[in-house]
Amino acid sequence: MTKISKVFENNEKWIAEKLAIDENFFKNLSKGQKPEFLYIGCSDSRVTAEDLMGVKPGEVFIHRNIANLVNNIDLNVMSVLNYAVRHLKVKHIVVCGHYNCGGIKAAMIPEDFGILNSWLRNIRDVYRLHKEELNNMEDETERYNRLVELNVQEQCVNLIKTAAVQQAYKERGLLVHGWVFDIHTGRLIDLKIDFPKILEGIMEIYKLY
Ligand code: CO
Repeated sequence: MTKISKVFENNEKWIAEKLAIDENFFKNLSKGQKPEFLYIGCSDSRVTAEDLMGVKPGEVFIHRNIANLVNNIDLNVMSVLNYAVRHLKVKHIVVCGHYNCGGIKAAMIPEDFGILNSWLRNIRDVYRLHKEELNNMEDETERYNRLVELNVQEQCVNLIKTAAVQQAYKERGLLVHGWVFDIHTGRLIDLKIDFPKILEGIMEIYKLY
C-alpha cells in the first residue's frame, strides 16, 4: 500500500462500509465529540492507537509524538491536554509507550541527532533519574524495555505536574494510566502506576491547585 490513489479508494470503501451499518453514521459524527479518554502515544507507524484499542471514531482524543513525551513546555501536548481535560472533560488519560521504540533507542546512543537532541534529552533525563536501576541490568534488551516503561511512568508524572490534571483529579476524579504496547505480541500492558501515591509524593513540590 504505497500509492496515494489507493488511500482515496480505501476511503470510499470505508465510507460505504460505515453507511451500510448505519446510514446516519457521519451525520451523528458531525454533531460533536464526547470522548472519555485522552491517549498520548508514540508516532511509530506500527502503534495504531484506535486499531489496537478497538475503539470507534469519537471515543478517544489522541496525541502522538516521538516516544510519547509529555514535555511541560511543549505547547502542542499542553494544548491537547488542556483542551481534553478542561473542555472535553475526559475521565482518563493514558500514556502509552511501546517496546522497540526508536526514540527510546536513540536516546540510549551517544550520538548527535541534530534537531532531535533537545527532544531526546527528555528521555536521557528519565535515564538519569533511574540510572542506578538501569545500569544494574546486564541485558541490553532488558534495559531498553525497562527504559520504555520508566519513560511512560515519568510522562505520567509530568501530567500530574500540570494544574489542569491536579484540578480535574480533585474535582472529578480524573485518572492517569501508564501502558506499554508489546509490539512482539500485540498486547497492551497496564503498568499499574499508583497515581494517587505518586501524586501524594510530589505534591509538596508541584502543587499548583
Ligand atoms: Co516509539
